[in-house]
Amino acid sequence: MNIQWYPGHMAKATRLIKEDLKNVDVIIKLLDARAVIRSENKDFNKIINQKKSIKVFNKTDLADDNKTAEWIKYFKDNNEDVFFVDALNKKGLNDVVNYLNDIKVNFRANREVRAMVVGIPNVGKSMFINAITRKSNARTGNKPGVTLSKQWIKVKGEFYLLDTPGVLPPKFDNIEDGVCLASIGSVKETILDREELALKLIEFLIDKYPNDLINRYKLDSVDKLPLEVYEDIGRKRGFLLKGGEIDYLRTAVTVLDEFKNGNIGKISFDGVNDL
Ligand code: G4P
Repeated sequence: MNIQWYPGHMAKATRLIKEDLKNVDVIIKLLDARAVIRSENKDFNKIINQKKSIKVFNKTDLADDNKTAEWIKYFKDNNEDVFFVDALNKKGLNDVVNYLNDIKVNFRANREVRAMVVGIPNVGKSMFINAITRKSNARTGNKPGVTLSKQWIKVKGEFYLLDTPGVLPPKFDNIEDGVCLASIGSVKETILDREELALKLIEFLIDKYPNDLINRYKLDSVDKLPLEVYEDIGRKRGFLLKGGEIDYLRTAVTVLDEFKNGNIGKISFDGVNDL
């Protein structure tokens, strides 16, 4: 599988975000609860230096509840302040807002805490910002003392959020990471071959979530080669070309879409054991 990675993207993203970083006290690193490890761009940590940051794992509605529980315990044991939220159904958001209101940012006394959201594509940055600012349209661009070009939104209490998130390129060095990031929609599927991507995803599901796969596609068994399971799925859905050959692309698109929408099940790629 041919995976392309553009170093120039990181350089550009870094330039754009660095300007905003000067003006914020706290960085909200938004990540995907299904890919606790892989939805983080670790190169970004070198850029933020000593700046305070918190991790917010979104899309818990799509993630494996058992794995999420393990992660929550892991972070608690390590005294890390992290949050697991579901921006779509507005769950867990108040905890983040309250935490940001409570922290004392001593180096900038006498004014509000300012935060910005940063993350790789499709983790829900825009939805998260909209969800936590929905009650307040109080844009503060014209307020004396707030002369920044971007808009700050007052969230609650003494906490302001930059209305535009920082977008980081996803980082991956191997096929497994690429498959994970493409499956959660953070890497454009077109960067990988969709049929190959679907095959890899099916292979992962056979290994880790066989029952979800069997139930979704009404399969008799997954105790066979991934390609055979792929073909079974196509056949079960009636995705056949003239002459009865499987429509591989249609099958791939369907599996990838249904995975992304959570139709196959609540599935996570990264567990504590993968650390
Ligand atoms: P981004 O700014 O980080 O790129 O993400 P954005 O908010 O645009 O959200 C990306 C997709 O993820 C959107 O789906 C959005 O509805 C969905 N999303 C965000 N937060 C959650 C969540 O907590 N749970 C679930 N289930 N979905 C969430 P979309 O508009 O359908 O986009 P697409 O998938 O068609 O690209």
